Amino acid sequence: MKKIVYINERIKSFNKKIYVPGDKSLSIRWILMASQAVGTSEAYNLLKSEDVLSALNAVKKLGINYRINKKNCKIFGKGLNGFDFKNNTIINAGNSGTLARLIFGLLVKSKNQIILKGDKSLTKRDFSRVIKPMKMFGQNIKSKNQKLPIKIKGTDYPRPINYYENKGSAQVKSSILFAAMKTPGTTIIKSIPSRNHTEKLFKYLKLPIKISKNKKFDFISFTGTKNYKAFNYTIPGDISSSSFFIVLTLLTKNSKILIKNVNVNNSRTGIIDILKKMNGKIKIKNKKIYKGEEIADIECKYSPNLKGIKIDPKINSRAIDELILIFCLVCAKAKGVSYAKNLGELRHKEQDRLEFVLKFLKTIGIKTIEKNNNLKIYGNPNLKLKGSYVVKNFMKDHRAFMLSCIAALTLDGKKKFIIHDADSINTSFPNFISLLKNLGAKVN
Ligand code: S3P
Repeated sequence: MKKIVYINERIKSFNKKIYVPGDKSLSIRWILMASQAVGTSEAYNLLKSEDVLSALNAVKKLGINYRINKKNCKIFGKGLNGFDFKNNTIINAGNSGTLARLIFGLLVKSKNQIILKGDKSLTKRDFSRVIKPMKMFGQNIKSKNQKLPIKIKGTDYPRPINYYENKGSAQVKSSILFAAMKTPGTTIIKSIPSRNHTEKLFKYLKLPIKISKNKKFDFISFTGTKNYKAFNYTIPGDISSSSFFIVLTLLTKNSKILIKNVNVNNSRTGIIDILKKMNGKIKIKNKKIYKGEEIADIECKYSPNLKGIKIDPKINSRAIDELILIFCLVCAKAKGVSYAKNLGELRHKEQDRLEFVLKFLKTIGIKTIEKNNNLKIYGNPNLKLKGSYVVKNFMKDHRAFMLSCIAALTLDGKKKFIIHDADSINTSFPNFISLLKNLGAKVN
């Protein structure tokens, strides 16, 4: 793949039906859960991206075999105590925060030590958030500054924990649930709501999970150590990947798109709610339930009357991968000022995304004010660019790359975008550029 792409002109109007690749969160969870099941599990439409391949390689290193071909992926699980690996086995999670954090939970009882590594971006990210609860379970963890590489060794006698998850992080919550799966007794989590795919999988597998809610928190209790049978799964499309095409359509005259078979789990659809409030023409159609997850088609049309929005921070975790990245482009083109608050978590992603967006918006001439992780974006529906715009040094953040492409394809003016590190899309959306080209985009 070419590492630098050049985009000089807006995309022309289109009217198409597309499919986006399988959901990344569900693909990684299916692999990890299937590795703990008894027997052979099979997945269809598994996302074939670097993060997902890192998850397959991780379970392989832990002694669980898999087979993957064009049509499906099979994992040969050996139950909750089926891992078998040598001391100091190295697992490289690559760019995947989800894999790196969730795997801690599965290693709560490991007899031998694992050395967990990652790429440059992952090595900079925060692991104190999982180290703290894992130590409470009794796991042995050695690290410098709570960053990768980290040495992890389990305990023979994990203890159930009572934990307040206060970041709204699904990765932290899921790592605790995975550890609880292997721990006798009942683990209790009080958590700020976040994506709930792990809970839904547990329910579908009839594992002993109980969930109650009040206005602010989810209360989850889970009792280990029940084995479960292998299970098959067809992974639906990824809403985070879809969001780039939704925004492309909202901002492109006379255009319409139908994105088929997307996971529209309520804990993921914050971006749709936000865009609709901004006058985005979006419809959710043909909703159905699949193994506890909601799946639907998303229809979206050119929306000329976009207006600024004040976002209720309660929605942040429901749009964590879209806020403020692809969302900032809609704010830039909307009439009026948009406000988003409590964006601190975005500093802990593949890169500091808040910093990236501030720099990006400044480069294209959009005024912003940021204070204490609260952000104001001053929209300009008449925005016209001129000259060359180079986007680079973004830690290969796949979503920063995709945002830059969508900006180049939707903003007016005589301009040229030179966007580096195109290979970053291999993390989550390897056919992103070919899908854009199918819609008529000129990407060189
Ligand atoms: C994910 C949770 C989110 C999200 C990430 C995937 C998951 O991270 O940003 O892309 O699959 O659990 P946090 O848990 O850190 O918010």
